[in-house]
Amino acid sequence: MNLVVVSNRVTRGNVNEPMTGGLAAALLPVVEKSGAIWVGSSGRVRDGAQKEPFAEVEALGAGALAMLDLPAAHYGGYYEGFANSALWPALHSRADLISASQGNYLSYREVNAFMARALLRFKTADTAFWIQDYHFLALGAELRGLGVTQPIGFFLHTPWPARAVIEGVPHHRELIEAMLAYDLIGFQTQDDCDNFLGYLSSSLGIEIENGAVTSCHGKSRIAVFPIGIDPVKFARQAAKAVSHPDVSRLRRSLNGEKLAIGVDRLDYSKGLVNRINAFDRMWTLQPALARTVTLLQIATPSRGGIEAYGNLQNELARLVSDVNGRHGEADWTPIRYLNKGFSQTVLAGLYRTAQVGVVTPLHDGMNLVAKEYVAAQNPTDPGVLVLSKFAGAANELDTALLVNPHDIDGMARTIAVALSMPLPERRMRWEAMMTRLRSHTIQQWFADFVDALQGTRVRPGVAMPPVTEPPASWPLRSANAGARYN
Ligand code: F6P
Repeated sequence: MNLVVVSNRVTRGNVNEPMTGGLAAALLPVVEKSGAIWVGSSGRVRDGAQKEPFAEVEALGAGALAMLDLPAAHYGGYYEGFANSALWPALHSRADLISASQGNYLSYREVNAFMARALLRFKTADTAFWIQDYHFLALGAELRGLGVTQPIGFFLHTPWPARAVIEGVPHHRELIEAMLAYDLIGFQTQDDCDNFLGYLSSSLGIEIENGAVTSCHGKSRIAVFPIGIDPVKFARQAAKAVSHPDVSRLRRSLNGEKLAIGVDRLDYSKGLVNRINAFDRMWTLQPALARTVTLLQIATPSRGGIEAYGNLQNELARLVSDVNGRHGEADWTPIRYLNKGFSQTVLAGLYRTAQVGVVTPLHDGMNLVAKEYVAAQNPTDPGVLVLSKFAGAANELDTALLVNPHDIDGMARTIAVALSMPLPERRMRWEAMMTRLRSHTIQQWFADFVDALQGTRVRPGVAMPPVTEPPASWPLRSANAGARYN
């Protein structure tokens, strides 16, 4: 089988450069090894003069990376518009932030159709397509419209909300009917899956039989595939990274204080305001904890052109400065707040340095930072994970200290408990989480989804071969050549 993986954001990946996007960082190591071709946006746009979608193709591990310049006239309406101002808030249960125009919806559909046309050149008789995330809900239907009969799978990295929330998205019915062109639809958690099935049955009146539904497109299977990480590799990286100069400097600057760490995109789904308020409350209720712990909060700016993100950035800057002003001392800054990205290597070292990892989103599909924090710990002296019960990861990491991110007092108390947890309890909790991470890796996630996808449209008597090297027909050039591909 020739696998074509599609996501809006792709990456060449360099562990020493800042990584953008959990999805891209997670997919990179598995896509590289699988021999798949990975198609996504180049991050550039082109004007409408192009007849054919344009792709740059370069080698990526055993496979290839193909990057498209998306149409300039539709990019804003697609990315900042419909994908991130209508779908993203809805998927994270923020119906109050949904903003959508007809123009943005049309741009979203245009970009999905554009991507479908671009994918045709990678299609062979035994190709299977695996589409990632909310940017491309309608891509499967566009491919079917172009005559593609090969298996097409879809995986959603975000949560799927309750019916009443998704119904706040204009054109929800059209979009979700289009999703049924996928043979396999994967979710992070059973709750997400149940919400989706609930919509199909209540809003579309579709009957569900053993996790499968039948529509005008044929049969779609709907299942749960929680994404993982490579914990062994990450642990190795973290052990090495503690001697990275940036990490050593941080350790020296702590003067014996404990470190709590939060690492997030600057996004309203991440619960950053509540988290800062919880630290504020903790230092107010337990003044003895002043000077004993510092929070390092990395909040990487994201989607800056969208008003809600700009507002949040301003609100957080004011809040952090207020908390530091009230609790700080001439020689102690309670919160170190950074608006920039860090390489995976440095992050691994920072996680290992921190005695507490604070991952408290209001809603999150999985949250791989939680898993990486656990994997990065020193087995003989592990830190404690404080984790929102509304992150997908909480289903698996249930020996973390689970918190309600809306309960500021509860979070304040729990962070204080984490800071004073005795070693035997820390080890017991950490070992249980590591056992889970080791048995549900990113490699296993990838293989499970691809296996299930292969099973969806296999013609009787025709066994699909395993994922292999890219076919000779892909015109690969080396990454350095910066080759163009038409
Ligand atoms: O949560 C879904 C997701 O695709 C993440 O994997 C990723 O971090 C983020 O959204 C991507 O955001 P953007 O590409 O807009 O920066």
